[in-house]
Amino acid sequence: MSAIKITETIFRDAHQSLIATRMKTEEMLPIAEKMDKVGFHALEVWGGATFDACLRFLKEDPWDRLRALRKAFKNTKLQMLLRGQNLLGYKNYPDDVVEEFVKKSIENGIDIIRIFDALNDTRNLKKSIEATKKYGGHAQVAISYTTSPVHNIEYYVNLAIEMEKMGADSICIKDMSGILLPYVAEELVRELKKNISVPLEIHSHFTSGIANQTYMKAIEAGVDIIDTAMSPLGNGTSQPATEPMIASLQGTKYYPDIDMNLLLEITEYFKDLREKYEKEGLLNNKVLNVDVRTLKYQVPGGMLSNLVSQLESQGALDRFDEVLEEVPKVRKDLGYPPLVTPMSQMVGTQAVLNVLSGERYKMVPKEVKNYVRGLYGKSTVPIKEDIKEKIIGDEEVYTGRPADLLEPVLKKYEKEISEYIEQDEDVLTYALFPNVALDFFKHRQAQKYKIDSQLLDEENMVYPV
Ligand code: CO
Repeated sequence: MSAIKITETIFRDAHQSLIATRMKTEEMLPIAEKMDKVGFHALEVWGGATFDACLRFLKEDPWDRLRALRKAFKNTKLQMLLRGQNLLGYKNYPDDVVEEFVKKSIENGIDIIRIFDALNDTRNLKKSIEATKKYGGHAQVAISYTTSPVHNIEYYVNLAIEMEKMGADSICIKDMSGILLPYVAEELVRELKKNISVPLEIHSHFTSGIANQTYMKAIEAGVDIIDTAMSPLGNGTSQPATEPMIASLQGTKYYPDIDMNLLLEITEYFKDLREKYEKEGLLNNKVLNVDVRTLKYQVPGGMLSNLVSQLESQGALDRFDEVLEEVPKVRKDLGYPPLVTPMSQMVGTQAVLNVLSGERYKMVPKEVKNYVRGLYGKSTVPIKEDIKEKIIGDEEVYTGRPADLLEPVLKKYEKEISEYIEQDEDVLTYALFPNVALDFFKHRQAQKYKIDSQLLDEENMVYPV
């Protein structure tokens, strides 16, 4: 065992968790040179929700951001988060899109791709792992951590062994809800280290207030890398803060090789940035509080706030407790999926519908039906017959790899948007988010000629009467 390595998340998960993914590239670049010299193992800078948010809200080309960051970080590895066959979207994409997306991500500067699947269905990880290795990237494969009667240490060890066999260059325990308890983490890390030979990383969120202790036990048990976020955007629903985590290891063999003085200079930069976000109203106090309900209900903080707004819009906030009790029941009915995108939204919405309609599974969203049909992958345990029948009747369930049902699309898309294409990557942007991409392309085109893009919207056309 030796010094711990640090993956800094402030350019991805931290601002995704705390300020709705609104950090701009121009806010990242001024501090890049210093950050590049600190000694971070890697910087998580891309993927997750950043791609969508760049296009939709910031009117930035995410590919431009990646290239700019690559240019700025000459020494530090750049990491991204990829939802397996869902890439950076919310559904399965065909294999041609997955391969090209991974290729372009690496070509534009990504070193490490963290790949996960919401259902831990390894068939959904296969293509992206293969592509990452084919194009010379480091394939880190992540376990979506959750708790249930079937999600025990043995389950995770078997999963990790399979991931390593599939070519994982490292494995990550991804605790998106911040529910991994310290002593469970200790046992989990110890058992994983016994059974796998690639490096092991831990990723948690401070949401429920336990992640610091969880990291310490994981470190003592032999984890190699931890994910933290610089303190101005650390803790809360983000990762444990970087500086105190490092300071806690002082005087031990775990102390990382980090330039502490330089690190504290960087803290000052982000403090100013945080103040700016506070002034702009981007930083909501809610995400900074410790939310112990997460421990009680085992649901991510983001899901709780979604439920509240869904009920508010129905004028039924008084049914919140009933819905919260329904969530674990729906989850059990659906075979214990981990509550991460897109499963957290499905389970949450179904629980709301079950409570408000007064009859369970009377109303079922299309996504939940497709999940039960097997189109998202395998549930952790098989869904019981009576539940299946309530949701999809006697329809047959698909048991193959979901993406095998999808035809290649890139050639078709290239033709479809040929008038907008300025770079190879544009067709990928379009494949992932067609509507958002088109809006962005129009905006980009209009900007070039300094014209307001609204002029190009059909509804704004003025016809003579
Ligand atoms: Co996260």
